[in-house]
Amino acid sequence: MSCRVVVLLSGRGSNFQAIVEATLPIEIVAVISNRPQAAGLAFAREHGLTTVALDHTLHAEREGFDAQLADEIERHQPDLVVLAGYMRILSPAFIYRFEGRLLNIHPSLLPMFPGLKTHERALAEGVKIHGCTVHFVTAQLDHGPIVIQAAVPVRADDTANTLATRVLAQEHQIYPQAIRWFAEGRLLNNDGCVNLKDDLTSQSVLSTGA
Ligand code: GAR
Repeated sequence: MSCRVVVLLSGRGSNFQAIVEATLPIEIVAVISNRPQAAGLAFAREHGLTTVALDHTLHAEREGFDAQLADEIERHQPDLVVLAGYMRILSPAFIYRFEGRLLNIHPSLLPMFPGLKTHERALAEGVKIHGCTVHFVTAQLDHGPIVIQAAVPVRADDTANTLATRVLAQEHQIYPQAIRWFAEGRLLNNDGCVNLKDDLTSQSVLSTGA
């Protein structure tokens, strides 16, 4: 039986697109967005996937919106919930409901640069390596057991845009990989650290000179 996946997104949806195009052993049972106009929803519709728009601006309270979102997700009985550019902070009650089956991608080498504007901040700090991280979501923002990371060099002439483009290309590699491992039951969570079953050499790092 294939792994049932619900995708949450807020915008462009290029990570979602990479997941669809990777032909993984999963069934995407719903794509849900807090923004009805998200380009990612249009892509999902074009691919015949079930889409749901839940406009968060219609809710005054985060908790109320998250409770409705969680109920909608559970209707689709997912084994895994994938945050693919879902740009809203999730309330602890939501995270608790999906703990252990909630993955996120973040455009930095966590625990460096949680939050927004990661590429600008990486350039301002003068780091020489930047990248992206797939991790299980916990109540602490952009924290939680790390599944896989990819690193890219920072170039002297980089702008936030050129750096973001280089990182995004790696996001599109590591997110499908992480989801494949989850679907294959290969991710072992030991005390907050994720190991890959049957693999003693870490395959969970990608680095590219690109
Ligand atoms: C991606 O870079 C993703 O890592 C980031 O938003 C972008 C969404 O792009 N997510 C976060 O910053 C979450 N903290 P996409 O819609 O094209 O996948």
